[in-house]
Amino acid sequence: MKEFFLKNYQVDCEQAVHLGSGAWWVGFQDEASGLHCNPYLIIDGDEAVVIDGGSRPDFPVVMMKILETGLNPGMISALVYGHYDPDLCGSIPNFEEMINKQDLKLITSDFSQTFIRHYGAMATFTSIAEMDYRFVFKSGRTLEFITTPYCHSCGSFIIFDHKTKILFSGDLFGTYDKSWQLFMTFPEGCAGGQPCDICAENGIQCRIDGYIAFHKMLIPSTKALHYALAKLKNLPFEAVASQHGSILDRRSALLLLEKLMQTNDIGIDGLSPEEK
Ligand SMILES: [Fe+2]
Ligand SMILES: [Fe+2]
Repeated sequence: MKEFFLKNYQVDCEQAVHLGSGAWWVGFQDEASGLHCNPYLIIDGDEAVVIDGGSRPDFPVVMMKILETGLNPGMISALVYGHYDPDLCGSIPNFEEMINKQDLKLITSDFSQTFIRHYGAMATFTSIAEMDYRFVFKSGRTLEFITTPYCHSCGSFIIFDHKTKILFSGDLFGTYDKSWQLFMTFPEGCAGGQPCDICAENGIQCRIDGYIAFHKMLIPSTKALHYALAKLKNLPFEAVASQHGSILDRRSALLLLEKLMQTNDIGIDGLSPEEK
């Protein structure tokens, strides 16, 4: 997927975007919102899995994008939710109705199940622990579930697709960003130093500040963030696809990771602006 990160590479975000080997971005450009949501779909043979499917109001567009890939929704065997927030779980009843099959699995952590059932989910819950922290397609393709406790909920986890080497990172590596683009690479030299208002490399507003501000607000503590990032650091990912913001190439994700590892006022450690 290296070509996506080349300067001036054009991507049509009006359509589902194929990231490679059956992995798809099925979100949309939400210009009105500062909180952009990215659901993903993985198709492998006659099976498919939806990752962090999205909110209830987003469902018609997300399902349209899924249909655009040529997939029959009945081929979806599992819905995976990294945690229980409404921006990823709100459309569970809509998915269940559209997929309409008895053996649909709803995969999440034990802790998240307790809350997700309140969306009216009817599918069979399967916990990631029961699955030995992996989903294996019939082909042998593996999605690995990596726990990231308190990033930002107790039972949060993220998903590594061993085939595409994409890390689906949930709220980690996310940002609020109204000037959204699906793929982003930070300019050389960016993120390694001090954040700046205007980027010296490309003359646009620095995005790093937005990423760091997002983690300060969303992640409860520095300890939780640094614990999770230390776990991810050595994964052989080639791209990081977060639930909010842009898909980052490996170099940019590692630069951001280093910057976040140097940040010590995350969550309660920095106190919220309201509290101050
Ligand atoms: Fe969340
Ligand atoms: Fe989120």
